[in-house]
Amino acid sequence: MTPKSRKAKALERLHSRILECTRCPLHLTRTQAVPGTGSADAEIVFVGEAPGRQEDVQGTPFVGGAGKVFDGLLASIGLSRTDVYITNTVKSRPFVGPPPGRNRTPAREEIAACAPWLAEEIQIIQPRLVVTLGQIALDQFLPHRKISEIHGKPQSTGGITILPLYHPAMSRYGSEWIAILRADFRKISKVMIPESRT
Ligand code: URA
Repeated sequence: MTPKSRKAKALERLHSRILECTRCPLHLTRTQAVPGTGSADAEIVFVGEAPGRQEDVQGTPFVGGAGKVFDGLLASIGLSRTDVYITNTVKSRPFVGPPPGRNRTPAREEIAACAPWLAEEIQIIQPRLVVTLGQIALDQFLPHRKISEIHGKPQSTGGITILPLYHPAMSRYGSEWIAILRADFRKISKVMIPESRT
């Protein structure tokens, strides 16, 4: 058995704390909190919005409909879940209506309560690239930038390189959106492999 890396141990401790989090009222209605998943030594961290119903049940990010699209996009650039780290801005499922209810966008207070968890995940992993999926995730790093203006274009902030991408759920709006997502995912390889080596 290979010894666990220092990062893997730190991440495991962080995940245990996230699973017990009561920082916002979402803890009262969730099945379980959903920490990130994947490699502690990943060079790329993906950040989505919040767990949906499937994620709430299974305890893993991106395992519902949007997750299938995400897996396909990852595969299209030769990556799999074990190569990267995948997490969400908010770790507990926001929903409306009587359970199981409908997924909803997380509220400002829920996002603020969860922000330190995301910061700690990134602090431990120290990735070369953070890929934000959708406007909510982008807002955590570049609060005044619009995804429609900067998707697919690498940005620098606080010593981190961010690649803002649309959320995979946009694929539900048709083939044009799928083409945009696929083209933007190819930018990940470009950022990771400098021009001289492509
Ligand atoms: N599933 C997630 O885990 N995050 C999202 O943003 C959407 C679906």
